[in-house]
Amino acid sequence: MKHHSLAVIPGDGIGPEIMNEAMKVLQLIEEMHGGFKFDIQSFNWNCEYYLKHGKMMPDNGMEILKDFDVILFGAVGEPRVPDHISVWELILPIRKTFEQYVNMRPIKLLKGLESPLRHKSHDDLDFVVIRENTEGEYSNMGGRLHQNTPYEIAVQNNVFTRYGTERIVKYAYEYASCHNVKRLTAATKSNAMNHSMTFWDDIVKEISQQYNTIETNLYHIDALAAYFVSNPEKFDVVVASNLFGDILTDLGAAIVGGLGLAPSGNINPEQKYPSMFEPIHGSAPDIAGKGIANPIAQIWSVGMMMDHLGYSELNHLILESIENVLVDGKVRTPDLGGTATTSDMGDAILERLRTLL
Ligand code: NAI
Ligand code: MG
Repeated sequence: MKHHSLAVIPGDGIGPEIMNEAMKVLQLIEEMHGGFKFDIQSFNWNCEYYLKHGKMMPDNGMEILKDFDVILFGAVGEPRVPDHISVWELILPIRKTFEQYVNMRPIKLLKGLESPLRHKSHDDLDFVVIRENTEGEYSNMGGRLHQNTPYEIAVQNNVFTRYGTERIVKYAYEYASCHNVKRLTAATKSNAMNHSMTFWDDIVKEISQQYNTIETNLYHIDALAAYFVSNPEKFDVVVASNLFGDILTDLGAAIVGGLGLAPSGNINPEQKYPSMFEPIHGSAPDIAGKGIANPIAQIWSVGMMMDHLGYSELNHLILESIENVLVDGKVRTPDLGGTATTSDMGDAILERLRTLL
């Protein structure tokens, strides 16, 4: 029997609520499949931990995580701790230290759901955004000077390295090539960001030469955002810098029905470090504790994790169960117009999955 070590970090707000449902799914596929076992360790590193210890994780936190095969993450953030602390001390160090430079974010209109763009079909709304996840606009380089004086100044540098840019662009082309995709879109803004984004464009053009069967489109981020709404069928694979990819994927989630549906993988393709799977949304303090968060993004993230571990058939079955429940339409959380609770929704998916396995 194969063993996979899994670190679970539920985090804050709705994180633990949706993680609960994800763990039920994981337990079921483990039981029914019989060929693997997860050795799970759960970590309570979150804002509560910060309020007690003055840090989001212990000093040797990264050392501990390093030895796991994969990490499943909920969401971090809570009003009593500034977001720049909770994000910078927990989620960003994991992504950066473990060179999870690919942030893979599917945008897919699930069967059973109508998009706010109702006239678009399920085929029109089915693409992936590959977001650079270690540098770019989220570089932590810069500073604030002369604080609380009229001369106060803040500088936040964008950092684009050749190494970092080449590897994400290459990954996107490889992904397109492996999935038989004929078009690749790169998000840019080289008209205004005339250093970093012209550099980005140059690298996209360089690497595109190696993939001459794939059509390359460079779109400025503002127009690209508009196309997501007006012409989503234009896209198959979109590659974007850290900030652009972050914004585009919340928009992407919105056009397929909302943040509660969108999963993601933070992937270290070389598998030198663990990869991490999580919904793209945050801890949703506005609905935390009410038991009404949609667990689909978290459950689908388990599917992406299984795919990463080599069980792609389980990913398909998880997605199929989610879609079956949505098509059936009886069990829906409030974000999808229903009255079901988080665990009603999780249980419905679980029951469906049980019949498919
Ligand atoms: P958010 O994604 O937490 O919430 C935005 C809106 O979407 C809210 O109205 C929320 O109720 C709704 N929503 C999100 N997930 C949902 C779900 N599963 N089911 C139903 N509705 C859902 O973003 P927001 O409000 O900007 O940030 C809240 C906190 O989350 C902040 O502390 C922020 O820093 C943190 N955050 C953490 C992330 C992470 O852990 N990777 C990512 C984004 C934000
Ligand atoms: Mg985001």
